[in-house]
Parts: sequence; structure tokens; C-alpha cells
Amino acid sequence: MPGPILARLASPAGAVDAALPPVDFAEFFGNDHPVELEVGSGKGLFLANAARANPGRNYLGVEIAKKYARLAAERLARQGIANAKVWAADIREVLGRRIPAQSLRAVHVYFPDPWWKKRHRKRRVFTAELLAQIARTLQPGGELLVASDVEEYFGLIRELIAASPAFHERPTPEVKQPEHPLDYLTNFERKYRLEGRPVYRAEYDYRPAAGS
Ligand SMILES: C[S@@+](CC[C@H](N)C(=O)[O-])C[C@H]1O[C@@H](n2cnc3c(N)ncnc32)[C@H](O)[C@@H]1O
Repeated sequence: MPGPILARLASPAGAVDAALPPVDFAEFFGNDHPVELEVGSGKGLFLANAARANPGRNYLGVEIAKKYARLAAERLARQGIANAKVWAADIREVLGRRIPAQSLRAVHVYFPDPWWKKRHRKRRVFTAELLAQIARTLQPGGELLVASDVEEYFGLIRELIAASPAFHERPTPEVKQPEHPLDYLTNFERKYRLEGRPVYRAEYDYRPAAGS
């Protein structure tokens, strides 16, 4: 079984080679366990905790910043976690070009960069296009989980998702009180909660109508 290495599926420039076929997850992870994807996995706390808690699942973090992708992959390796990998690339290219349709059990989007300045807003990762790719790659019965500390961005994300009838929002998730500094959902969640900032969360079941 392949170890928790930094996945190098992108070209050295970080571009995703559209000529390559969609990833074969069974080959990639060395088993056919369900695959969960994290958008912008940062320093990898979610990947490590989730992979340890769910050995029967595989986790793929896609992180555009090579420095963080490498750091997260090294942490996974140090902890001997074999069911999580990090792909250093742009999620928009990865989802659109390399992830097979209906191949993901869950998609996690935690604390996407808010890009506060108005002229930078177009850099935000959570858009209608990203949601369409999430819907394409999620298996029916899969899940979409989001969290943000930015009320305005979170509101826009919820509006986008609400416009897609295949996503069914669950009751607001309960938030557990961490007993340990590594017991947070993500690195940014820890930072914001320790600063006393509110964190907004939503969870959805993906149930597309038959034939859609
Ligand atoms: C605010 S950080 C949150 C990191 C992590 N989810 C957490 O909660 O600790 C946002 C992360 O998304 C990454 N990111 C931004 N745009 C991306 C893209 N297009 N594709 C992949 N990762 C992206 C950034 O490099 C950064 O690590």
C-alpha cells in the first residue's frame, strides 16, 4: 500500500495536465475504500485527525500552496498515516479535470480564504463552478461539509448551495469542546476559536433526483 507521500500528480509548475486521465483512486490509495476530499487542506490537521479516526476511508487534501502541501504530507508521514495524501495543486483544475464523476464520498471545505478586498473577491474558491464540480464528483448519498469564520462569505456559500436542490441541509452540527490542542477540526478552526471568533458551519447530504 502506498505511504502517505506528497502526491505529485501535477506538473512542476503546479498546472494540472488535462491530457492525463481521471485519477484511479483504487490504484492511488491501494484499496477501494470510500474517498473524502478536502479543499485547501492547509497544514493538514483535518486530514490527520479524520484519517486516524476513520481507517476504512481515504482522504485526499488538495492544497495550492506547495509549502503547506509539503508540510501536511510530512506530518502525515511522521504520524504513519497511510490513508491520507496531499495533492499540491489548484482545486479548480483538479476537480474539473482529474477527479472522476461520482467518485467522492464527501467533500470538506473549511475556512476558504475570504479575500476581503472587493477587487480580490474573484479569487474566492467557493463559486457556482466549484459547486457544480462538487456535485459532479460526489456520489449520490455523499456529503458536503463547510465551515467559515466569515459570516458574509459563509452566507454566500449557503445561498449557492441552497440554489441546488440536490443538496439537503442537515440540522446545524453540534460543536465539540476540544480537550487537546490537536483536537480541533482544522488549524484555522483552532486559531479562530482560541481568538473567540464565531465559526459558521453547515452540512449537506447530496441526493440528486434520479436521472439528473
Ligand atoms: C484559510 S486557509 C484554511 C486551511 C485549512 N482548511 C484550515 O482550516 O486550517 C485556506 C487554504 O486554502 C488554500 N487554497 C486557496 N485557494 C486554493 C485553490 N484554488 N486550490 C487549493 N487550495 C487553495 C490556501 O493555500 C490555504 O492553505
